[in-house]
Amino acid sequence: MIKIVSSCLILFFLSVNLQAENGHSLWLRSQSSSPVSVICSKKSIVTEIARQELLNGWQGQPGASIKLIVKQDKQVKGDGYKLTPEGVQANTDLGVLYGVYDLLRHQQTGETINPGIFNPSYERRVLNHWDNQDGTIERGYAGRSIFWRNTKDSLNVTEADKKLWREYARANASVGINGAVLNNVNANADILTDVYLKRVKAIADEFRPYGVKVYLSAKFSAPSQVGGLKTCDPLDPTVIKWWQAKVKEIYAMIPDFGGFLVKANSEGQPGPQDYKRTHADGANMMADALKPYGGIVMWRAFVYSASDNDRAKQAYEEFLPLDGQFRDNVIIQVKNGPVDFQPREPFSPLFGAMKKTSLMPEVQITQEYLGHSIHLVFLSTMWEEFLKSETYQEGEGSTVARCTDGSLFPQKHTAIAGVANVGLDVNWCGHQFAQSNWYAFGRLAWDNKLTSDQIADEWLKLTFKRNVAETTDWQDNFLKPVKQMMLDSREAAVNYMMPLGLHHIMSANEHYGPGPWWAPKRMRKDWTPPYYHQADTVGVGFDRTHTGSDAVSQYHEPLHTLFDNIQTCPDEYLLWFHHVPWSFKMKNGCTLWNELCYRYNKGLHQVRDFQKIWDKVQPYVDGERFVQVQSKLRSQSRNAQLWKDGCLLYFQQFSKMPIPYEIERPVNNLEYLIRNDTTRHQNYEQ
Ligand code: GCU
Repeated sequence: MIKIVSSCLILFFLSVNLQAENGHSLWLRSQSSSPVSVICSKKSIVTEIARQELLNGWQGQPGASIKLIVKQDKQVKGDGYKLTPEGVQANTDLGVLYGVYDLLRHQQTGETINPGIFNPSYERRVLNHWDNQDGTIERGYAGRSIFWRNTKDSLNVTEADKKLWREYARANASVGINGAVLNNVNANADILTDVYLKRVKAIADEFRPYGVKVYLSAKFSAPSQVGGLKTCDPLDPTVIKWWQAKVKEIYAMIPDFGGFLVKANSEGQPGPQDYKRTHADGANMMADALKPYGGIVMWRAFVYSASDNDRAKQAYEEFLPLDGQFRDNVIIQVKNGPVDFQPREPFSPLFGAMKKTSLMPEVQITQEYLGHSIHLVFLSTMWEEFLKSETYQEGEGSTVARCTDGSLFPQKHTAIAGVANVGLDVNWCGHQFAQSNWYAFGRLAWDNKLTSDQIADEWLKLTFKRNVAETTDWQDNFLKPVKQMMLDSREAAVNYMMPLGLHHIMSANEHYGPGPWWAPKRMRKDWTPPYYHQADTVGVGFDRTHTGSDAVSQYHEPLHTLFDNIQTCPDEYLLWFHHVPWSFKMKNGCTLWNELCYRYNKGLHQVRDFQKIWDKVQPYVDGERFVQVQSKLRSQSRNAQLWKDGCLLYFQQFSKMPIPYEIERPVNNLEYLIRNDTTRHQNYEQ
């Protein structure tokens, strides 16, 4: 009898474990709820959603009565909210909705609800989708676009489309994201034509109840390409009129349209410089067209030319002289680092330096350089490090966060953007844990002072906790180890990919795996890894000191001097700023070469440890998600091995020093790695 009962119990637990959990519900999976009554001071589509969310997800006192109040309060800013013992109060309907999501999040994570005011750090918290109108996604690793199909006639909107867009908007609203750019920064001008605008309108209609505004990437050459004009000169009256008319047409369809994102004179994209005009001329012309409707221009500072000038210096050199020349509805969108979303970069020196222009940070949620949707890398720690970086521009406390959220410089608008990692994959992001990066972006955009520890904690509880009863055992055996794995994961990736300030040494094109050797003769130098690592028999690293490219001088003191001096430069940025001799003594007493070997080895072993951690938590995870993550970790481990072997064997050709004997020997041959890599990229090899 006992045997039967216990085997029934085992079966029961197994079935709980194995029930289908494909990850589609994201962090919004809580199903159990207690009865609650909700009184709303104002009826609208938005407050109705808030009410429904409470009715479906309430886990507080059964039978409680909750008040949702829309009422002006000077201390509440924008769509911020106030949690009170009675419920939620806000200035706007959307504020009420955000407050409700926060209340439910507290209940579901078991955190105490402290009454108080919660204001957003940034006014606009925007996802940038690099989705092409043919349904493909540039740097997307989670299937095709949720917005676009491959042919124009398949653009008619279906009920399934609408449902998906609502689910997406709800997920965004639940973490405070309030905008989405629907198409690639490498824009196709056609997006501004009627056939696409109709679909944009349909998307906007589904997003609106959740407070998510749509934005579009606009191609600077659109007046010629779709308008048939002879020029796109931003000072030409016909061009100005064309943009005004286009903007009017858009707002007639979408009255709350957010505005344009523009990549101009960057990587071959057209821009005002084609007409000998400045970025300010181009951005202001568009901003003037948008101004009457409250729209903004997010103008990207991701610019660099194929010159001998250090690429890391170029955005600063091009934009700083324009400080103060932009309209107040232009925001310059600046990538977190001066090169390009690398596993680790120092912050872009533009932050804090442009004091009379609004700047918005751009981070990359999709893992272009961080292992795609194969590697488990929790990016929150990277963004936290970036947002908390001291710029010293206005003395101590001038963090990047404060330089961009309006607390140091007066800004009409504040914003932050993340390049989205969402696609048609059933779990949205390709990797279950990649969802945590979408979540983390939203949470940090709402509150740029949050810690990654808190974000990981919340996300794990919302995503993996099956019921409220799971307490101490679950916390000790699942939450703690898995959270630690998440918190360590970015540093692990830095270790096995590009430690000590190395950057841009990945394999070409798809940017997955090692490629420090890749340098076809006819390729632009600043697109090849040797340009960045500069390895030779003396040492390795890019000399950006005052005797090198002098990029250090773009940083405010004391950073300028700190980075310039090889003895004081932090280890994490050593090879970013210095060309360092192989036998250089590091702060810990090791030679640079040995330290490099230890870091690569450590990174690989960190991933192997992640595998152990994950296997051990199997009893706490449903079968489907467990197996998926396990399999991805295996791939990550194999890839980390390639990184370690490839980079160490390649650099060893220059250092001519032995790999310390106590660490694991390479298991791949360099010739094999290079040959395979080259075969994949043979088009570039001529
Ligand atoms: C990177 C990325 C491109 C992208 C570009 C950008 O270079 O590889 O795919 O277009 O960044 O941010 O504009």
